[in-house]
Amino acid sequence: MVLLNVEDYRREARRRLPRFVFDYLDGGSEDEVALTENRAAFDRMKLTPRPLTDVSIRDQSVEWFGQRLSLPLILAPTGLNGLFCRNGDIALAKAAARLRIPFVLSTASNNSIEEVASAADGDRWFQLYVMHRGFADQLVDRALAAGFGHLVLTVDVPVSGKRDRDERNGFVMPFRLRPKTLADMVLHPRWLWQVGRHGAPAMGNMLTAGADPNTQAALLSRKMDASFNWDDLKRLRDRWTRRLLIKGIMHPDDAARAVSLGVDAVVVSNHGGRQLDAAAAPISILPDFNRVGAPLVLDSGIRRGSDVVKAVSLGATAVMIGRAALYGLAVGGEEGVVDVVRLLQAEIDRTQALLGLPRLDAQGQAA
Ligand SMILES: Cc1cc2nc3c(=O)[nH]c(=O)nc-3n(C[C@H](O)[C@H](O)[C@H](O)COP(=O)(O)O)c2cc1C
Repeated sequence: MVLLNVEDYRREARRRLPRFVFDYLDGGSEDEVALTENRAAFDRMKLTPRPLTDVSIRDQSVEWFGQRLSLPLILAPTGLNGLFCRNGDIALAKAAARLRIPFVLSTASNNSIEEVASAADGDRWFQLYVMHRGFADQLVDRALAAGFGHLVLTVDVPVSGKRDRDERNGFVMPFRLRPKTLADMVLHPRWLWQVGRHGAPAMGNMLTAGADPNTQAALLSRKMDASFNWDDLKRLRDRWTRRLLIKGIMHPDDAARAVSLGVDAVVVSNHGGRQLDAAAAPISILPDFNRVGAPLVLDSGIRRGSDVVKAVSLGATAVMIGRAALYGLAVGGEEGVVDVVRLLQAEIDRTQALLGLPRLDAQGQAA
């Protein structure tokens, strides 16, 4: 089958992955209202073409802290990438390096900070979950030592969202293999051969860290330190000496407060509809953030190049893509991720031409 768009990759990923893996990738929390709304909000937003502009040369690059990103795309941090493809984190990092876009390694990755650093060049960022403060400090120091350029602190997971699909599939920690899951795997022989036969992928950052058993258990059950607060953010700002982003902010006052504490950029995100199911779609609240006075990144719901143009036209410097890249990873590993991003790039390019927008970073022209 020719894969023409992200939805095609999604369907192909669904065919290839065991049900419990696909549902973990694809699903949202509770009734998946936020997940649906993330898409609906993009679809409701319309763009106005301004023809008779010379669009014979088009540029998708954007400025990011004095450097140019070839595209306004960042591969979002996602946990358990080793379930979609063997060494999935490394595959994503390598794809990002080829595409000259940043890749964010999750705390809940399968390949460790050090493995990714030695396997892939490029612009590597690290995403921090705080399960235990001492361990978070260790992770920060390791990411600094391994040359990760930006730290992305995720703040929308004081507790994990309730993912009914995962619970129904028995994909909850501690993971126990049930007959239904086994049958699910056997029915997907390609996945079983490429991924499943190596056993459950390890949580890479835990293994090398000498983390104590309580911390390991907390990570495996995705149990966060729910007491993390603004004072802790200040301490983190002092410890991490490079660019710091805060991800999962949904109120402009919180964004402004974070920036006043030294945070460099804000990721407006509802975690792809996987946390608070009653959350608004980030794209519908993005204009409120323009007074924050720091670069904005948006994620949640990006599936088309026109979505990227919409986000940029409302003030985002760049967007993160989560599932879109993971569908590519599940279908074709590193190559699949490159294909999905190139497809989005071609869609962005065509949208620019149709809008009369030769430069993507000439903001505010299209909305
Ligand atoms: C399978 C999966 C795992 C994720 N794991 C993490 C994670 O470990 N840390 C994090 O900050 N966000 C995580 N996210 C959220 C993404 O970083 C991002 O906010 C979200 O996927 C964006 O929405 P989209 O999938 O519609 O592009 C995860 C998302 C998915 C789909």
